[in-house]
This record gives sequence, structure tokens and C-alpha cells, in this order.
Amino acid sequence: MSKERAYNFSAGPSMLPLSVIEDAAANLANYQGCGESVMEMSHRSAEFKAILEDAEKNLRDVLNIPDNYKVMFIQGGGTLQFAMVPLNLLRKSGKADYIVTGSWAKKASKEAQKFGDIKIVATSEESTFTYIPEVKKEDFRPDADYVHITLNNTIYGTHYPYVPDTGDIPLVADMSSCILSEEIDVSKYGLIYAGVQKNIAPSGIAIAIMREDLIGFAKESVPTYLDYKIHADNGSTYNTPNCFSIYIAGEVFKWIKSIGGIKELNKINVAKAKKLYDFIDSSDFYKCPVRKEDRSIMNVVFITGNSDLDKKFVAEAKKNNMHNLNGHRSIGGMRASIYNAMPIEGVDALIEFMKKFREENR
Ligand SMILES: Cc1ncc(COP(=O)(O)O)c(C=O)c1O
Repeated sequence: MSKERAYNFSAGPSMLPLSVIEDAAANLANYQGCGESVMEMSHRSAEFKAILEDAEKNLRDVLNIPDNYKVMFIQGGGTLQFAMVPLNLLRKSGKADYIVTGSWAKKASKEAQKFGDIKIVATSEESTFTYIPEVKKEDFRPDADYVHITLNNTIYGTHYPYVPDTGDIPLVADMSSCILSEEIDVSKYGLIYAGVQKNIAPSGIAIAIMREDLIGFAKESVPTYLDYKIHADNGSTYNTPNCFSIYIAGEVFKWIKSIGGIKELNKINVAKAKKLYDFIDSSDFYKCPVRKEDRSIMNVVFITGNSDLDKKFVAEAKKNNMHNLNGHRSIGGMRASIYNAMPIEGVDALIEFMKKFREENR
């Protein structure tokens, strides 16, 4: 028998709810007695059609998505969205404004620069992205086709404490590392996208939630697969989708409903994050470099101030069945990603380990 399941603090791919994994395992070879696995199933079959329709319906329910928004499951993860956004939304002036609050936001802006006139209206790069800059409506170019933000910054552990007011300019948000962890008002956004491998499903797709009036502006030269209209018009089955990932996403949406929806889940997430930040802040051994009001409840970064000790922490934590506590390779230190499926017991175990490590290494 292999060792027990670890608490996996990875920033992504990350833990999925155990009940979802176990249920998928029970249905792996013969999905609900239909004689086939979802992995083998035609994406045009009645069985998969039901899976897809249910997944979309449950996502609409949990996020309260208005009827004038399309939901799309698109391959290529979050990164492909960095290109799809400008290719579809640079539709009038060819200008877009980006707020750069981390490496992913920077990558998104760099990709967009291939296609249009991109302005970085604000950045916190000068302080290694430890805070979210304040941006006002007047800071955006009035003729910008859209404004892009990264709502939660996975690597640096920050989250917007506010939603930027962009007036009539559509707001586009990368929510890869916070989607479904908090209630959001979808109607404030023109487009929301998220890679699924943190809070939703196995990697391989992104979910895009897009206001209908913004769909259909891709130029003729845009490759077919990169046109949101193709996905919207074909119900996410223009080509063969990642059926298995969509299936698990649907099961996770049901799991969220079963625990009382995003409101309840958010209460648990806030409690988990508070416990961990309170412990770090009260300790004279660990430090969180992020400005308090901008801290993420999904990705908690911390350091000891000694990079050798940080490495030792990560290695010893792994021996104690707590995996992937290393910070992103670009900044080092530690990062505990405590997404929706991380139980509070995982946070408790981490804090106990942090206390023990502090006593042994101070
Ligand atoms: C905020 C954010 N955006 C985009 C990405 C890239 O996603 P993918 O690996 O699905 O392309 C990540 C990956 O961690 C992320 O955290």
C-alpha cells in the first residue's frame, strides 16, 4: 500500500476534493453504467452532452452568471487566453490597457503587445509585486478597447482589494487562481477567464465567461480555434474537447453546491487564510512580504529571511507529507496554496509543522 494522501500545497495543478476523485474512480471504467469511460466517450454522445450541459448549468448557478454571458470550455489553459483576448477584443482603436501586478499579468501584456497598442497603466514591479496599485477611471485611455487585470497573483500572493472602475471600457480578468473561491459580480466584467487546474479540474482547459455583445469581432486572419465565436456558437464542441477535464469540472461545481455554494466556501477560505497569516504575523521567525490589505486567500507566500533555511523548510515539510511548499522558482521562499479543496486540517498541520521547524532552527 502506498503512503497516505499528502496535503498538496502546489500552486497548480492542485488538490481536488477527495470525494470528487473517489467518485470519478468509482466511475472510471464504466461511467454511471453506460458501458464506457468518460475518457473513451464520444464528445457527440448523449452521455457527454448531458455532462457538458450540466457542467455549464452548475457553473452558471454557483457563479450567478447572467443570461447575456456565454460560458466556454477552451483548450490551451490560461496561457492561450493571453493571445485570444487581444485577438478578439482589439476591435476598434486597437488599444488596450493592462495593470501589471505579477509575472502572469506581465506575460498577458507581452502577448497582447504582438497584436496592438498596449499601455501598462500601473505596475507594482518596482517592489517585486508585493502590493496592488490603486488605479482610477481617469488613468485608462478613454478609447481603450479593454482593460486587463489579473485578479489574484499566484506567484506573489496578492489579490485586488477592489474591482477597478473602467466605466464603459470592458474589463477583462484573469481569475485562474481565485475563481470560485469568492463571490464575484460577473456583470462588472466583459470577459473572465481561468485555467482550471487550481480550483476546478485537471489541467488542459480554460473557462471563459464572456458578455455576448463582445463576441464576434475577431478579424478574418485570426485562426479559427482562437475566435471565441467559434466556441460560443458550437457549445464548446467545435472540435474534440478535453472531455475528462470538463467532466471533473462539472463534478467540482456539484461539490461546491453541496457545501452551500461559493458564499459558504469563501467563509472557509477566509478562515483558513486568516489562521495562517495570523500565525505568520505573530511569529518572529516567518514573514509575509505582502501588504496586508492586498493579501491573497489562495496563495500565502512567506519567508524566513534565509534562503538555505527556506529550502530546508520545504524539504522537511515534504518528509512530513506536506508537498510543494516552495515559492515559485522565480522568487524562492515558501508559498502555501490553499485552494478550495485544501481542508482546514491541512492548514492546521502546516502551522504545527511551522512551529516545530521554528523551534528546531531558530
Ligand atoms: C494567474 C495565472 N494566469 C495564467 C496562468 C497560466 O495558466 P496555464 O498554465 O493554464 O497556461 C497561471 C498559471 O499558474 C496563473 O496562475
